[in-house]
Amino acid sequence: MTEKSGVLNEKDAMKTEELISGVQEAQVLKMLRALANPARFRIVSMLAERKEYTSSQLAELLPLAQSSLFDHLAALREAGIVQVSSDGSNPNRYYCLDPAALDFLAAYVSELGQQARSWKELVKVTQKERTMEIRDATHEDVATIAHIYNQGIEDRSATLETQLRTAEERAEWLAVRGSRHPVLVAIDQSGTVVGWASLNSFNPRPAYDHVVDFSVYVAREQRGQGIGDALLGALEERARLLGYHKMVLAAFPSNAPGMRLYERHEFRVVGIYQEQGMLDNKWVDVVLMEKLLH
Ligand SMILES: CC(C)(COP(=O)(O)OP(=O)(O)OC[C@H]1O[C@@H](n2cnc3c(N)ncnc32)[C@H](O)[C@@H]1OP(=O)(O)O)[C@@H](O)C(=O)NCCC(=O)NCCS
Repeated sequence: MTEKSGVLNEKDAMKTEELISGVQEAQVLKMLRALANPARFRIVSMLAERKEYTSSQLAELLPLAQSSLFDHLAALREAGIVQVSSDGSNPNRYYCLDPAALDFLAAYVSELGQQARSWKELVKVTQKERTMEIRDATHEDVATIAHIYNQGIEDRSATLETQLRTAEERAEWLAVRGSRHPVLVAIDQSGTVVGWASLNSFNPRPAYDHVVDFSVYVAREQRGQGIGDALLGALEERARLLGYHKMVLAAFPSNAPGMRLYERHEFRVVGIYQEQGMLDNKWVDVVLMEKLLH
């Protein structure tokens, strides 16, 4: 009886250990994603240098629009990196780092480093990272490309396009693209296309030959896992290889994942066309962004 409960306890202990390690991994991923953004990293560096700042002080020093700063602070708070404190005598809210959270992250990463010192573990880590492939699209991909594009069109958050596409239409679209306007696809472990991205002609006049427009679309159920980020990284690399000087895009300012993605890749806002399009009887603003590649 004692032995039996001893075995059970051991199992329970293992389960608890697994649970804890799962929770820890989720927390670390959350923190790393929050930190992997230039503006947020700067906020954390500033808070590390000086104990606390108000949001207006941070907005002025960075410099960042208050609304964008609040989004970043919310993401950092959500990840447990930043805390907010209120001084009784001062109506301003002060933001500061949670040193315990950063110690936890450092300890976790250091532990990974120790594990990776063993060659066997190093191979395991590398294999885990190799979960997604990005390659040029082929005729076989057109049906999935159309499906993913149609999801983006139906969402009404990505494009002013309203006409849904078919595999046949996308096959023609793919066939007439020259080598300067490639289409890339992201493939998951099971070989399924989970997203696509393309370099598109910005303007046919020769003077614009060094400027390229682009599109990125990730399957609805696969969004928010870094696929858009990987596709845009690969697209930018290709644009550089093709000798483009600049990448440009037009998007909806209300497209939060898109805005985050472009900000992470250091695109600059050129300006906003107010009430530029009409979708489902509602005006839509369009933001123009650019990134110089050289
Ligand atoms: C926009 C899109 C391409 C981004 O790709 P994704 O794989 O979902 O995004 P990622 O996981 O690579 O994350 C990119 C950034 O968006 C953020 N993000 C992802 N989902 C989000 C959401 N639902 N709300 C707010 N931010 C979000 C991520 O946190 C990350 O920002 P960070 O670097 O500051 O942490 C994808 O959501 C999509 O295909 N949307 C529909 C089509 C579209 O809008 N295309 C762009 C047209 S301009």
